[in-house]
Amino acid sequence: MLLSFHSYKGGTGKTTFVGNLGAMLARDGQKVCIVDTDVSGPGIHSLFDIKYEKTLIDFLQDTCNAKDVVYRYKDLNLFIVPSRACEEDISALFETPQDAKNKMLELINFIKDEFNIDKFIFDCSPGINKSSLLTMNIVNKATIISTIDVQDIRGTYILSSMADKLGTHANLVFNRTPRDKQKEIDGIVKDFSDNLGTNLLGSIAFDESIARTWSRKIAMLDDPECDYCTHLREIAQGLI
Ligand SMILES: Nc1ncnc2c1ncn2[C@@H]1O[C@H](COP(=O)(O)OP(=O)(O)OP(=O)(O)O)[C@@H](O)[C@H]1O
Ligand SMILES: [Mg+2]
Repeated sequence: MLLSFHSYKGGTGKTTFVGNLGAMLARDGQKVCIVDTDVSGPGIHSLFDIKYEKTLIDFLQDTCNAKDVVYRYKDLNLFIVPSRACEEDISALFETPQDAKNKMLELINFIKDEFNIDKFIFDCSPGINKSSLLTMNIVNKATIISTIDVQDIRGTYILSSMADKLGTHANLVFNRTPRDKQKEIDGIVKDFSDNLGTNLLGSIAFDESIARTWSRKIAMLDDPECDYCTHLREIAQGLI
């Protein structure tokens, strides 16, 4: 199964969600691979403290083999393909979008066979860009992580319609919601679902303890019973 996480605005919590979801599935005995396709602002290597030599970009540029860009996280069955920052969008490295897609599929197929992977999780760039849409086009399930900020919501509508056009009906998660505004949030969520028919997986409140990790810890490994992890587990059940 291939899952991807997107957002319109930056900083909605994609990398945190992807990292914790991957850790949760790996702890539950699945074989998981996280791929950082956010080449404009990669973050997965920081979250997992991966000291990389070769990255997704090197593989896409044909300067190394697929096996050189896969890093196992500690003794978990969790494999990570980090990215380094690149000024070009992934698709700009190829002549046609189909070439970019084929190269990504080559990587996925290699990792799947070599490490017997059950789940691939893609952390995507915020905004509407070609690499995010390319990933959306490859996966079985795309999820948009939005905040309830109106700038974000308007963009989430657009992103969601683009997913529909690609034939990948997107799921939606609201993250960082204010704890004291549940009524307003319920209203926003209802409007959204009514207007778009989007599959809402749930919402996660702003969690001070997650904000205070500054992406230096993975809650699912450190404190798996925390509020954030409990919500994430419920959302994952709806997704998988
Ligand atoms: N539910 C939450 N409550 C509080 N803080 C959160 C929550 N989810 C994520 N964060 C924090 O928000 C910040 C941004 O999160 P993260 O890096 O995961 O966002 P992102 O969507 O990947 O950002 P970008 O678009 O820049 O890649 C991080 O400091 C993270 O710890
Ligand atoms: Mg990120």
